[in-house]
Amino acid sequence: MSASDGDARYPGEPWSRGVRRREDGVVEVAGVDLHGLAAQVGTPVYVLDEADFRTRARAYRTAFETAFRAVGSDVDVYYAGKALLTVAVARWAREEGLRVDTASGGELAVALRAGVPGAEIGLHGNNKSDAEIDRALEVGVGRIIVDSLVEVERVAAAARARGVVAPVMVRVTTGVHAGGHEYISTAHEDQKFGLSIVSPRSGADSPAMTALLEVVRRPELHLLGIHSHIGSQILDPTGFEVAARAVLELRADLAARTGVLVDEVDVGGGYGIAYLPGEVALDPERVAKDVAAAVDAVSARLGTPLPRFSIEPGRAIVGPAGLTLYTVGTVKPVTLEDGRVRTYVSVDGGMSDNIRPALYGAQYHAEVVGRSSAAEPVLARVVGKHCESGDIVVHEVMLPGDVRAGDLLAVAATGAYGRSMASNYNLLTRPPVVAVADGAARVLVRRETEDDLLALDQG
Ligand SMILES: Cc1ncc(COP(=O)(O)O)c(C=O)c1O
Repeated sequence: MSASDGDARYPGEPWSRGVRRREDGVVEVAGVDLHGLAAQVGTPVYVLDEADFRTRARAYRTAFETAFRAVGSDVDVYYAGKALLTVAVARWAREEGLRVDTASGGELAVALRAGVPGAEIGLHGNNKSDAEIDRALEVGVGRIIVDSLVEVERVAAAARARGVVAPVMVRVTTGVHAGGHEYISTAHEDQKFGLSIVSPRSGADSPAMTALLEVVRRPELHLLGIHSHIGSQILDPTGFEVAARAVLELRADLAARTGVLVDEVDVGGGYGIAYLPGEVALDPERVAKDVAAAVDAVSARLGTPLPRFSIEPGRAIVGPAGLTLYTVGTVKPVTLEDGRVRTYVSVDGGMSDNIRPALYGAQYHAEVVGRSSAAEPVLARVVGKHCESGDIVVHEVMLPGDVRAGDLLAVAATGAYGRSMASNYNLLTRPPVVAVADGAARVLVRRETEDDLLALDQG
């Protein structure tokens, strides 16, 4: 929807469900007008639509529970805190029946501060510190997902020292890497995560099987299950089915070798969302049904009882719930080689609050949200204020031709991996996270100040 068509409603994705454009052109989220919000808390600001987050969390939980219960199994949904974790966000996830997946001591600390019981938390990481492992055992996390053979030994040693039995999953790589619309299956892995299920040419056990056998034989470890995460922003569910099949086969192999049939299988996160108008997010009901059917069929073929299943969506829950609100500064027309003019619209943030366009070439959508405009749209590029020409927020978007300094500009679907990947590049202070619900705004994480920056600098 352009800013000028007078529609009182917003078109839906990539915006959160609470986004509405009023007759006067001002956009509201969950009844909070973005003009008033900017005046109150300043810009840039991450705005989080609480009801939208909760709706998506519930949709994933319900879809997977329904599909897996229909085939006689059950599911745990872990919210992947790496996408965005604050104390309130962890509480919302828990209130909606989700557990919390953490990937560092910091994420673990926030989940605990939110009151999430240790038993409902998972700890990931390819290079966990001894302190992180020990803290996880101290608070009784429900699962530590081990990522290497060395870590099997380290978790066992920590458990021995504490006199506890550590619940572990082994993270394996199935050769399926998915993202965008395609997935590819390769035999060998060249990346840092997990343990390959492929045996070396010598015919020895695969790294995954070696680690599983090692866990089984250690009394300080309880092997809960097998974990596999195949990628991000996946819009074709086939990759999840292929990965689930490979993990179930590994589970059956392990049972045949050791008599140990692990209870749980997790296929991680990566469920794709709409970033641009017209894009269609992965439908949780469809992916849940397809994966449950595949798990059911493969388990029947292998003659193994169905495992308990778990997933770890992050982006699909919090991504569309967030937008970033900026104030426009410099506006500069630049003539391209082919004669077209691109209007560079600079905002008061940039790659420090959203690194994804610079890091992955990620595409976003933006609109002027503080007023309506009847001006002809122009081809624009939204850029930040950093000392990098790659400091791009939105590569290409049509904005009203009269876009000008002082305009409020919102970028859609920035809830995931925006604040969580933010930096202080150029010593910009990181923006606040503000939740909006029922016409009220609440600061979840306050804006950093120059005093915060100076407090870290020991002179
Ligand atoms: C192990 C694991 N689980 C879950 C996720 C969450 O992925 P997404 O936010 O794409 O759902 C990630 C993301 O990197 C991951 O590495």
